[in-house]
Amino acid sequence: MDVLHVASEVFPYSRSGGLGDVLGALPAVLAAQGVRTTVLSPWYAGLSGEAREVWSGELPGVGPARIGERVEGGVRYLFLGLPDFDRPGLYHPDDVQRFCAFGRAALPALERVGAQPDVLHGHDWQSGLIVAHAHLAGLKTVFSIHNLQYQGRWNLGEARSWTGLPDWAFGIEGVEFFGDVNLMKAGLVFADQVTTVSPTYAREITTMQYGEGLDGLLVRLTLEGRLSGILNGLDQERWDPRTDPHIPTYGDLGGKAAATAALRAEFGLGDAPILGTVSRLADQKGMDLLIEALPELTERWNIVVLGGGDPLLTAALTGWAQHPRVAFAQGMNEALAHRIYAGADAFAMPSRFEPCGLSQMIALRYGTLPVVRETGGLVDTVPHDIGFRFAEATPEALSACCAQALVTFEAPAAWRERAERGMELDFSWDGPARHYIELYGRL
Ligand code: GLC
Repeated sequence: MDVLHVASEVFPYSRSGGLGDVLGALPAVLAAQGVRTTVLSPWYAGLSGEAREVWSGELPGVGPARIGERVEGGVRYLFLGLPDFDRPGLYHPDDVQRFCAFGRAALPALERVGAQPDVLHGHDWQSGLIVAHAHLAGLKTVFSIHNLQYQGRWNLGEARSWTGLPDWAFGIEGVEFFGDVNLMKAGLVFADQVTTVSPTYAREITTMQYGEGLDGLLVRLTLEGRLSGILNGLDQERWDPRTDPHIPTYGDLGGKAAATAALRAEFGLGDAPILGTVSRLADQKGMDLLIEALPELTERWNIVVLGGGDPLLTAALTGWAQHPRVAFAQGMNEALAHRIYAGADAFAMPSRFEPCGLSQMIALRYGTLPVVRETGGLVDTVPHDIGFRFAEATPEALSACCAQALVTFEAPAAWRERAERGMELDFSWDGPARHYIELYGRL
């Protein structure tokens, strides 16, 4: 079986979040399980790592294009270069137009380098149009939702000609959505099978609360047996406290104490336990709830936050960083992220919604107990007798849950027992990869 993945980010070549991490791990595991695997993503100007140009030329109706290739871990990575992607950064305000160009160019470009997949597997809205074209070209298709909130919408009048789709595709049964073209919807309506990254999120998105306006369609897909949830795994080699080059390595909680002491020293924190978080500063992640809870939380906890995004949240955290018990590092910093996962005692994820979430799995693996809102993948990965869970998306519920965590923290044997069981949970990609292979086989 020959499967081609398409996504806008692929670790380590390009990454802004969990999507990139998934594409950095799953393909190699599929390959190891016998699937011929290719990954197609944009050839960004700032690609980390070298790609060898294997084709360049003109694509009819598209213009100049080139393809870079790299083979790694049994996987063929292809990078499609288009003029619009030749600038710094991954994402830009004109992304709908750019990813339409990408979506039109993909299949003809793949032909030029002899890629002939049996199944095309697209991820998130940036690959919705490719899924539509692949379906129309007679390929079997899978489309995975990593985050339903970002849909790739643009007014239909302007965007219609960018897509290269036939006129009939612009009806309400097609890619039209409240007068816009919606590329997420393109993926949903044209894919043979739709998946999302946890079973709980697969159920949640069929409700008005989590459906982002697409719940009606998602209910229909569920009834037709075309929507399911396959839980993400974790790259357990990249995230292993026994070998992690960024921390004083450890294999048990005794060893973890050194990482905690180091983090405390790094930020000049006192003796209180450390509640850490590494997160995009966005509405989804509930960082405003954490900020609102700080007056209460700082009475008992040190707080360490690493993240970037929303300017208002950034400003609020920058202000709070004056507090002796609050540390805030702005932006993304891989090494510091590792030090926080390892050094914190507990890890906060007050997400409003969370398709899967990877941080909680990393935290568990490092013996750091997650405090999470009960939603999406957090429900599926954080057992309630290991981590701490709360239901309401309010600062009060978050701080009550932290208070409960503290009671356990003050009973060291109970805390240790939870943390040890957390470190032993298996989040390997082998099981999820088998589920995908089963799904491909059913098409
Ligand atoms: C998105 C989601 C996150 C998920 C990740 C990978 O970033 O917000 O919950 O873990 O995609 O699937």
